[in-house]
Amino acid sequence: MEWDAKYEHGVIWQDLQHKELVEKMHQLLDSIIEIKKDKEIFYDTIKFLKDYHKRHFLIEEEYMIKHKYTGFKDHYKEHKYFTWFLNDFISQSIYREIETSVELLNECTNWFGNHIKTSDKLFAQFLLENQIT
Ligand SMILES: [Fe+2]
Ligand SMILES: [Fe+2]
Repeated sequence: MEWDAKYEHGVIWQDLQHKELVEKMHQLLDSIIEIKKDKEIFYDTIKFLKDYHKRHFLIEEEYMIKHKYTGFKDHYKEHKYFTWFLNDFISQSIYREIETSVELLNECTNWFGNHIKTSDKLFAQFLLENQIT
């Protein structure tokens, strides 16, 4: 998935973090395709994604807990799943064929795109309706 304004829900910090994450996932994809040239970018991007997605999830979860968001449990499970997915990709990527890595990373990015379009959208609506930004 390419980043598009349609993924923005109007909560500025959330939109910016989503954009950053999606762009980094694309950068990772490019570095896999050209892995021989871009090993450094590959490892830097992985490190960034590992840290930044956790921070992003934590911020959303803290808002949910603080403002008693009723969808917290399900949303939290989705975050856990993504973390597992990403970590699995990272830990195994070195052993995989490039084609498999590309396929998996595309799957991971699409999953994240769907999360933004559905669960994060609902949460953003909750924040906006309650004037929490
Ligand atoms: Fe989320
Ligand atoms: Fe999010």
